[in-house]
Parts: sequence; structure tokens; C-alpha cells
Amino acid sequence: MLLHIDSVLTAEEAAACRAALERAEWVDGRVTAGYQSARAKHNLQLAEDHPLARDLSGRIVSVLERNPLFMSAALPLHVFPPLFNRYEGGQSFGVHVDNAIRQVAGTGHRIRTDLSATLFFTNPEDYDGGELLIEDTYGTQSVKLPAGHMVLYPSTSLHQVKPVTRGARLSSFFWIQSMVRGDAQRTLLFDLDMAIQRLSAEMPDHPTAVQLTGVYHNLIRMWAEI
Ligand code: NI
Repeated sequence: MLLHIDSVLTAEEAAACRAALERAEWVDGRVTAGYQSARAKHNLQLAEDHPLARDLSGRIVSVLERNPLFMSAALPLHVFPPLFNRYEGGQSFGVHVDNAIRQVAGTGHRIRTDLSATLFFTNPEDYDGGELLIEDTYGTQSVKLPAGHMVLYPSTSLHQVKPVTRGARLSSFFWIQSMVRGDAQRTLLFDLDMAIQRLSAEMPDHPTAVQLTGVYHNLIRMWAEI
């Protein structure tokens, strides 16, 4: 499932992040790429131990922990500390698949990448190109979202970032290890949760809502690994 999550950050928060990032020193993006993706990757990144990266990354994770849509769709077990990238002057990232396992810098902690996320800091009208193209079951999806919005997609997907031919595209990218490894199971749980919420809103106290909530939790019990 590919999901747009609107307004993870407000427009003002996203603009503040963008302003801080524009003043930072950037390094070659290949520092965190695997062998194959290093050949396709042409962009800039903020070093993982950069104080600004740590500050913004902590803020993003705490905002996400309070975002009901994110929690329901990702069912996160671990969130990889968000990283930051910048594309400009024709930079792009060719078709690749993200590494299955990632080690959190400076720790022995490893996560399995079940979901990939990109949080946009630059509004689409401020740059040309830079679309994130994600291949999913229904064909290729082109994603270019307003500042503060985020896309969440299965890490099993082939994806690429088209060349940025005007302006600069700043964003945050990271991975989530979900309690529920399979995309099909996560999608089903998300759809069920959304349906229960709609039912509860439209018909409060309907006894079926309790029954369906029981089914939801029993599926989590069956599928979750913690
Ligand atoms: Ni990628």
C-alpha cells in the first residue's frame, strides 16, 4: 500500500526545517548507499551525526508517534532515525530497491526495512523534476507532495527520483520496521481500522464496532512480531 499522509508537519514547521537545512553543510549521498545503489545515487545528504540531523530527526519521530494515520498504517516497531537529502543541478537517484537491513549509525541496532518514507520540505512549485516514482502492483506512481506531507510505501518496491532540473528538493527519508512484516496483512489491518473508525463515528455505540475491534486485535495477535 502506498499512502500519502497529509500535514505531518504544518507548512510553517516544514518551512523552518527547510530554512535550517539550507544553511547546513551537505556531503555526498553515497555515504549511506549499498554497493548497487551507490552507482545510481547522485544527491547530497546531511551526515547522520550532524547535530541538525539529530535534532530534526528526533522531532520528526515524536510527531509521527502522535500521528494516528501513520501509527495505523505502519504499526511501527522501530523507526530508523530520519535522514535528510538534497537534489539540485540535475541530481537524481536511478531505479533501486532499498537495503533490507540497516544499522543505526553509532549503535549495534539493526532494523528490517518494511516501509520506506519520504517527508517533503520543498513545495512542488519551487523545483522542477524530482518526482519520486514508485513501482507498485497497480503500475508506477509519481509522487511530489507539498511541504510537510509524507509518502509511505513498501520497501520491497523499486523506486527512483527523477532529475531535479530547477531549484532544490529537500526532504527527509527513513525506514520503519513494522510489527507486521507483510504489506498485505498491514493493508488489511489498516482498511479494517479505518472502517471501524468510520462505523464508530457514524453509529456510536453500535455493538458491531466492538466485535470488529475484537477481530482487529485478534489479527494483530496472530501477525505481530515484537
Ligand atoms: Ni531508496
